[in-house]
Amino acid sequence: MVFIADVKCDEWVSKPVVLRGWVHRKMFVGGKVFIVLRDSTDIIQCVIDRSVVNPDTWAKAEKITRESSCVVEGVISKEPRAPGGYEVKVSRLSIVGLSEWFPIRGREGVDYLLDHRHLWIRARKMQAILKVKHTVLKAGREYFLKNGWWEVTPPILTGSACESGATQFEVKYFDQKAYLSQSAQLYLEALIYALGKVWSLTPSFRAEKSRTRRHLAEYWHLEAEAAWYGMEDMMRVVEELVSYIVMKVLEERESELKFLSRDVKPLERAEPPYPRIKYDEAIEILQKKGINIKWGDDLGADEERVLTYEFDKPFFITHFPKEIKAFYMKLDPKDPRVVLGFDLLAPEGYGEIVGGSVREDDYKTLYNRIIEVGLNPKEYEWYLDLRKYGTVPHSGFGLGIERLVMWVAGLDHIRDAIPFPRFRERLYP
Ligand code: 4AD
Ligand code: MG
Repeated sequence: MVFIADVKCDEWVSKPVVLRGWVHRKMFVGGKVFIVLRDSTDIIQCVIDRSVVNPDTWAKAEKITRESSCVVEGVISKEPRAPGGYEVKVSRLSIVGLSEWFPIRGREGVDYLLDHRHLWIRARKMQAILKVKHTVLKAGREYFLKNGWWEVTPPILTGSACESGATQFEVKYFDQKAYLSQSAQLYLEALIYALGKVWSLTPSFRAEKSRTRRHLAEYWHLEAEAAWYGMEDMMRVVEELVSYIVMKVLEERESELKFLSRDVKPLERAEPPYPRIKYDEAIEILQKKGINIKWGDDLGADEERVLTYEFDKPFFITHFPKEIKAFYMKLDPKDPRVVLGFDLLAPEGYGEIVGGSVREDDYKTLYNRIIEVGLNPKEYEWYLDLRKYGTVPHSGFGLGIERLVMWVAGLDHIRDAIPFPRFRERLYP
């Protein structure tokens, strides 16, 4: 089988071709029907000339509608006026699935398109983003494979919170309560005792109360955890991984980035090392810019946005106050008000794409932290056990795939980084 992208070249000129696809656009001009045919690879103009084709093909050309699936037979010819410079002079057209009036015409609003998501994902913009995401996922996996990490499969149904209990989805589990996983981290921490360096790609769920441009209720989470790794070791993994992914996208998805009008210069700059600033410095920068913020406040999307314009590549913020971070983060022995944690922020206004830390590996300290933040140590018994049986210093991180896709593809909303987005009040289609 050949695809449209294969035949748009000089070698195919004057050669017979059979293409399968969907009618992207259709126009009548004089005694001709012009169809722009679309498949997974590209589009090509197909001309059906009434004076050339048999009456059956002409009748089908008249009848065929936008988004109908069809088989086109003809020869390739050079045509400078056609998109991409080549067209098919059609000898025969067969309709496979005649499309009803397609409900998307091109000027619909966001909510209408979300209601018709099952049809909208075939739009060329969505097609380009889906391909960028494919390469992001492929490159992420490749990075771990090349560097000696083990891929593991943690559960999605869990008994305890990893991040804040306030954003947990509760589900009925036989006659018990369970939760949808917010992060595989706690399980990855158990798995490092078997495999040392582990990673996983899983869906994560967050019952986020508000609908923002960068929050989904269900997203894809790439997480890694390693025994013996300290803060700097793990930050190095993050910058290598992110730059590896970005470089692969630049290499393999050039035409999609172009279609999305993505300026690639900021991506080309994403080589390590990435700058590192402490939370303290972040607060100083913000205060100098006149932002009303004090030490101890969390950095929201607005504060992050301001900071991202201070850097021209991804950068780390480290050493956050313990009050604004999760219970499992190790306190900095030099300043126990802050944690050995880091976030990676993407530039150009995007903000956080990775969150990670050194984990508390001492039983008593972790136990006390669990009490201090108001959690029930009973629920974390197995997790605490890991500190009883051969505890080891270790670190890890989680990368939000859609956050990264959003930045790499230059999207202004996270919904387009996932084919079927889930938000509060939207579980369709
Ligand atoms: O910063 P978070 O909450 O960290 C964790 O879950 C850690 N347990 C990960 C770990 O150390 N293994 O989430 C990690 C990343 C964020 O940096 C962000 O990119 C993404 O997950 N993320 C979301 N993406 C889309 N929608 C949401 N609601 C997200 N919440 C977090
Ligand atoms: Mg975070």
